[in-house]
Amino acid sequence: MWLHRESAPALNAKSIYLRRLMEKKKETLPAGRQVVMSGIRPTGFLHLGNYFGAIRNYVKMQEEYDCYFMVADLHSLTTHPDTKDLKTNVHRVLAENIASGLDPEKVALYCQSHLYQTGELYLYLNMLAYKGELEKTPTFKDKVRQHPDNVNAGLLTYPVLMAADILIHKAKYVPVGKDQEQHLEIARNYVNRFNHRYSEVFPEPYAFNFNSELVKIPSLDGTGKMSKSENHMATLFLADDDNAIRKKIMKAKTDNGPSENNSAKPDYIENLFLLMKLVSKANTLQHFEEKFNNCSIRYGDMKKQLAEDMVEFIAPIRQKVDDILNDEKYLQKVMKQGAEKAIAHAEITMRDVRNAMRLNYF
Ligand code: TRP
Repeated sequence: MWLHRESAPALNAKSIYLRRLMEKKKETLPAGRQVVMSGIRPTGFLHLGNYFGAIRNYVKMQEEYDCYFMVADLHSLTTHPDTKDLKTNVHRVLAENIASGLDPEKVALYCQSHLYQTGELYLYLNMLAYKGELEKTPTFKDKVRQHPDNVNAGLLTYPVLMAADILIHKAKYVPVGKDQEQHLEIARNYVNRFNHRYSEVFPEPYAFNFNSELVKIPSLDGTGKMSKSENHMATLFLADDDNAIRKKIMKAKTDNGPSENNSAKPDYIENLFLLMKLVSKANTLQHFEEKFNNCSIRYGDMKKQLAEDMVEFIAPIRQKVDDILNDEKYLQKVMKQGAEKAIAHAEITMRDVRNAMRLNYF
């Protein structure tokens, strides 16, 4: 890969010396905007839940924060050692995020494996990570259950790598879902251990969402949220073609309609209204609200309208994703530019880390 092996200098004695010299210069992290950092798993195929739950927030944050968004390709090795599809998946995640509005000029959008300083910080943090604490992490226990014959040390230290991802940018704000809270708590433990043992280098990172209320996108079968692993027919993907979108929406669960004016909506009906609110015009939504309230609603009509509005919403994003995926040069430029921004920023933190640990012998 270009960054590691070709354009980046090899770590020979001379470049280590040069690096130390650079570190002696008075560079500090730019003051001003707060740092936001998050990782995106390269599992391919984002769905509407990812779009409204996560990406739309990232897109808002990029205007006001100093953002580092990273594709967590190394984390995926903990459970998916076969890397045959990794490149395709990384490309897709990048393309889907860019097509949804993330601007590589405004944020650092990079791959975890390109920010090789993360590996160094991960090593140091491992000395502050206790085996017992890691073994108790619910995500570790889940993964042991799912992959009983591949319980590797990388899986155990998954939260250490995640802490390194965050701390390498001294990020305080980490937009993640509830399922990642425990990992952030572990990261805060390392911050406190490090700052206490060496010197005050890291701020404590906290989960952060731009809107305190996160939109949860319900699945079309009325059971839980849209999810890439559950029922595919109940989840709308940004990659779905027009007919797939129509088919999925037309299959969504409904009933015979209300029998009393102004009655409460059952969950699965509420869900259709929520989707309509997100992608349809305000007067379309109002039209069907009125029909529901006076019991004249025909769900077939409502779903047809929703399907068309959804097609209109998803199709341009899908088209943009395809255009980006067909332009590998552009993707490489994005990755390279993201890596350069991330490396420059991380190197400033690592200088503080090495100094704090007295790993500065010359
Ligand atoms: N563990 C996160 C997830 O499963 C992905 C991730 C990796 C991450 N490194 C991160 C999230 C750093 C936030 C910050 O979704």
